[in-house]
Amino acid sequence: MSGPKGWELVCIGCGTPAETELPDSTCSTCRDLLEIRVTRKIDGRSLFGGDGPGIWRFKHALPFAPGVEPVSIGEGGTPLVRTDRFAARVGLHNLHAKNDGQNPTGSFKDRGMSVAVTRAKTLGAKALICASTGNTAASLAAYAAKAGIDAVVVVPRAGVASGKLGQAFAYGAKVFGVDGNFDQALATVFDLVRKDDRFYLMNSVNPFRIEGQKITAYEIYEQLARVPDYVVLPVGNAGNISAIWKGFKELRELGIIGSVPKMIGVQAEGAAPLAAAISSGEPFRPLAEPRTVASAIRIGNPVSWKKAFSAIGESGGRAAVVSDEEIMDAKETLAQEEGLLVEAASAAPFAALVKLKLPRGATVVCIATGNGLKDLSDHGGTHNIEPATNADSIASSVGGRR
Ligand SMILES: Cc1ncc(COP(=O)(O)O)c(C=O)c1O
Ligand SMILES: [Zn+2]
Repeated sequence: MSGPKGWELVCIGCGTPAETELPDSTCSTCRDLLEIRVTRKIDGRSLFGGDGPGIWRFKHALPFAPGVEPVSIGEGGTPLVRTDRFAARVGLHNLHAKNDGQNPTGSFKDRGMSVAVTRAKTLGAKALICASTGNTAASLAAYAAKAGIDAVVVVPRAGVASGKLGQAFAYGAKVFGVDGNFDQALATVFDLVRKDDRFYLMNSVNPFRIEGQKITAYEIYEQLARVPDYVVLPVGNAGNISAIWKGFKELRELGIIGSVPKMIGVQAEGAAPLAAAISSGEPFRPLAEPRTVASAIRIGNPVSWKKAFSAIGESGGRAAVVSDEEIMDAKETLAQEEGLLVEAASAAPFAALVKLKLPRGATVVCIATGNGLKDLSDHGGTHNIEPATNADSIASSVGGRR
């Protein structure tokens, strides 16, 4: 069923095309997740020739009728930077960071939020809601503000980075703290959207979020002028790995690329239910009490686990696990040797490279998902000096380059 609108919603479980989305973004037949298929004819060559900033350059690949006004504040189009010093440490020659911390609110969430809030606006949504470990809250708050729609965010009462929470407040969202972790916050949100149709769900189960985030793949291909061998990224709720894989698959279906990268999903040791299932071959089982310093991926029951399984399985990739210590080491090295300040979750893929031992000549892209400025809780203290001896104290304590 192609339909005049140029895209359709399909269930990933039973394959049924969905005429309408249920409030919880699931299939009305089997309750599995939905996925968007863009069915309009896309001219592969002109896809990359469009103008305009960021993700909306690729509007032909997005699920909207021509003429829809995007809710945009400049998302996407983030830099791909070489990280040669880090590469040398892990035995690679071609390592790049896709710096999605440079999105308007400082994380990759802005890509999907722009698309999903545009959808919400066309549907006339009254209020937008999400559960969040912080970045989704910040992003939703900003895009809802831009669209002139109320935003409600539900976060774990403890452990959310103060910078992210501060953003949600500053953009004018109503913020609720639950006594529990992210998975419990999300369960609360699901409960609410099923009961009260004023709320439109903005977590990454919403397939419109995935459409915005898939554009990362388009951009990487364009910036590298080739398909990377590996894309390595942190996995929490598993939306982003599903989205980027979808983007590469679409490019292949359009005949633009002939091969696809292997997708490597990285989880933190204490919050690795996907990696555990993949490495053991056992069925996926949620983890009740996820623990890690990387709060953005402190998730025990990733809703998009099935999509992530497909991304890793179909691409021939793998799942990797890193310890908190390895994450913090990689975070420090990225800042101090690459000038790249990322949050802990975003350091996880780099940390994984230390033990993944990918082929030296492989072209590898790590997704730096979020900006370290949001969470500076672990930086060092100042060296305090006395006014009378300021210059001398500094001079005597600093060695090195002259
Ligand atoms: C900085 C950062 N990295 C990675 C993730 C994980 O992304 P996903 O939930 O799509 O797997 C998140 C999610 O909150 C995040 O904020
Ligand atoms: Zn179904």
